[in-house]
Amino acid sequence: MLTLPDLTPLLAWYEESKRDLPWRHTKDPYRIWVSEIMLQQTRVEAVLPYYRRFLDTLPTVKALAEAPADLLLKLWEGLGYYSRVRNMQRAANSIMTEHGGNFPDTYEDIRALCGIGDYTAGAIASFAFGLPHPAVDGNVLRVTARLLAFTENILAPASKKLLTAAVAKELAGHAPDVFNQALMELGATVCLPNGTPKCEVCPLADRCQARMLGKTDTIPLRAKPAPRKKEARTVLILRINDTVVLRKRPETGLLSGLFEPLCLDGKQTTAEVAATLQGMGLSPLRIAPIGEAKHIFTHLEWHMTGFEVQLDICDAAKLPDGCFLAPREEIDTRYALPSAYRFYRPYL
Ligand code: ADE
Repeated sequence: MLTLPDLTPLLAWYEESKRDLPWRHTKDPYRIWVSEIMLQQTRVEAVLPYYRRFLDTLPTVKALAEAPADLLLKLWEGLGYYSRVRNMQRAANSIMTEHGGNFPDTYEDIRALCGIGDYTAGAIASFAFGLPHPAVDGNVLRVTARLLAFTENILAPASKKLLTAAVAKELAGHAPDVFNQALMELGATVCLPNGTPKCEVCPLADRCQARMLGKTDTIPLRAKPAPRKKEARTVLILRINDTVVLRKRPETGLLSGLFEPLCLDGKQTTAEVAATLQGMGLSPLRIAPIGEAKHIFTHLEWHMTGFEVQLDICDAAKLPDGCFLAPREEIDTRYALPSAYRFYRPYL
């Protein structure tokens, strides 16, 4: 079993240095939950406007449970990983039906909710209810790996288990909410990744093994992820007067349920696009290239080539299955589009 050094100086440092963040002013488990799921997606500064808008629109678990799917997608648009907000709605429904509308107040019941893993359950249990559970995210793994000069790959499940057990043991003597937030805050603001930790202002510098051994740039070790699959796509902005062709993606899988322009497999030339559209029975009047764009998902890259296509008015009745004409002025308000297509948005 690994044993962390005494972390008491961290707690005083946190009280003095912590950032003023809205979710640190609440004990409402719903608000804490929303913040934690959003913070898994992007940086604190980017989360702030989404967090406020989401909670202004859906201030309670009940409101989230009852929200129309398209509203939910709209509130999440730009954050990415839409499955997370869908899982939140599933969890909100379970809270309404299985917990009488009250947010569960034990670690096990919180962990059992859809989309809530060990980290998020620990964060909600400790921040909202003061329960003594660790909340070990990437920041905490980095901080603890450095404190202990832990040289194994921190992305390996066995490493996470060891470091989590060390945090749980040290947590026992402290207020769980402050302790967990403080470790995270140190990782986010001082014990920075990529060989740039600010050891000169770190309250734990005198007890950090990695620092003493001069190893802060090699610890933590993160094994390289598998290479991402690359997919070429041709994005067609098909236009008939002031309408644009959209379709809804399937209800399961990548970007499920979102709206998108018609796409073809592979990187096609203008002539190939013309032939493909004619093969669908359509009559393109004008095809203009609008540039290339790339979008990176966790395991996948899209390499996109875009064309703007003016169709004949008669084509309105001949669109491929699932495609429909969306008035341009409704695109911002009615249809949630994946940020993967951000580059082509001005053409929609
Ligand atoms: N990142 C994840 N959770 C956080 C929190 N509660 N405060 C600041 N950054 C975080």
